[in-house]
Amino acid sequence: MSARLDLILLGPPGAGKGTQAKRLQDHHGIAQISTGDMLRAEVAAGSPIGREAKAIMESGGLVPDAVIITMLGERITRPDCARGFILDGFPRTVPQAQALDRLLEEKGLSLSAVIELAVDDAALIERIAGRFTCAKCGAGYHDRFHPPRVAGVCDACGGHEFVRRADDNRETVTARLAAYHRQTAPILPHYAAQGRLFRVDGMAEIDEVTRQVEAVLAGLGPSGGSR
Ligand code: AP5
Repeated sequence: MSARLDLILLGPPGAGKGTQAKRLQDHHGIAQISTGDMLRAEVAAGSPIGREAKAIMESGGLVPDAVIITMLGERITRPDCARGFILDGFPRTVPQAQALDRLLEEKGLSLSAVIELAVDDAALIERIAGRFTCAKCGAGYHDRFHPPRVAGVCDACGGHEFVRRADDNRETVTARLAAYHRQTAPILPHYAAQGRLFRVDGMAEIDEVTRQVEAVLAGLGPSGGSR
């Protein structure tokens, strides 16, 4: 049986975490866990978590650590994580990174790699402003960098309806970028000290970023990160 693969993709809003996480999920058969997607589902359902998160997300701030850590702790026990997972949007603060260390320790797991998608802030506004997804299957697109093969038709499911996120506007993106630099970037030294941090060029074309991510994984050796 092949080793587990437990990964974190780190980077500011629009760095390409979701784009690369979906590719990793398809290629390696491991679960993509996006805390942003989980929160948006809670908001859409009108749950207590969703009601608490909605205004925070629309302002570009971060949802409280305790809420996110409880949500994530439950999520990684689900069957689709049996071969591993890709965390997309978590951890985002030092307390979240420390909580993840404890959760993995309890489960006898350790991270295979933490991959930072390095990007220029200036490019992110354009990436985020052009982003849209299929309303039916959630496939992600970009007006300029990744349009559907046939305009108005989803490549993956043939759907004709597309949606844009409520927090993908210029003011909120600026606040999200500030939150990244103030609260999330400080976790990079945490993983560098563990010897697990790898950096790839998130400014390259999407396929080239995927190639660089796969090169990191190929260099991990047959044991991956599992014990
Ligand atoms: P979340 O949903 O995690 O959003 P984010 O981190 O802001 O990241 P994005 O989804 O905007 O970007 P991405 O890096 O996935 O880029 P993508 O691949 O789509 O979080 C939303 C909110 O939820 C937060 O603000 C916070 O309030 C809350 N939240 C979530 N997790 C939390 C946590 N752990 N703690 C507290 N609060 C939390 O790419 C963007 C676009 O660019 C796409 O259109 C894509 O096609 C295109 N693109 C991708 N790669 C490239 C490339 N290499 N070249 C050109 N275009 C590219």
